[in-house]
Amino acid sequence: MHNIPVLTIDGPAGSGKGTIVEHVAKELGWHILDSGALYRIVAVAAEKKNIAFDDDDRLAALAEKLDAVFLPCKGGGVEVHLEGDDVSEAIRTEDCGCAASKVAANKGVRKALLERQRNYLLSPGLVADGRDMGTVVFPNAFAKIFLTASAEERAKRRFKQLNEKGLNVTLAALILDIQERDLRDMNRAEAPLKAADDAITIDTSDLSIDEVITKVLAVVREKK
Ligand code: DC
Repeated sequence: MHNIPVLTIDGPAGSGKGTIVEHVAKELGWHILDSGALYRIVAVAAEKKNIAFDDDDRLAALAEKLDAVFLPCKGGGVEVHLEGDDVSEAIRTEDCGCAASKVAANKGVRKALLERQRNYLLSPGLVADGRDMGTVVFPNAFAKIFLTASAEERAKRRFKQLNEKGLNVTLAALILDIQERDLRDMNRAEAPLKAADDAITIDTSDLSIDEVITKVLAVVREKK
């Protein structure tokens, strides 16, 4: 089990992790752990069951027996099911990201999800995407990346994505959302968002997706 390689990619909301992880995992032929999706699913489940986002005991019990599955789609991508319902779209909204960030501040929730996340470590390798992959979940990962970008740049990217989907949002509101989420994720007591001491930080503000992928793959090759 310990010989299976893990590449951790941590960073704040909108730093481009999702896209980079997808490309890099495809290139390496490795599995993906989207840990943010797990926290988002807990947030959706909590809303469904009317559990407050700071009720650690009930949230932890919910996370412990979370009936969630990721089903790979034929054309690529995954469908996310919670208790048999397709929540793939529901977990991708800005509101859900914000709710996930609140849910994720609870100690019991993080503890409940720890083993579940480690179970994604399957041969031939895993690319783990999140906030605490390199610091808490996979501290022994052979390569660790921390992706950053300015809040403005991250909000601009999100603005473009949401506009393409036809959603009506303002850039100013997105910048505020991102700054609020960063503050909560970085300042919480449990597993705060931060680069592992042995992580390589890549600022993606002025880089294209291809340039970031090339840099990440170079790190992997160098460490192998
Ligand atoms: O990566 P994301 O935007 O899908 O994550 C949603 C929220 O979940 C994020 O704001 C903080 C939380 N999260 C976390 O605390 N730890 C992780 N490993 C991944 C996400």
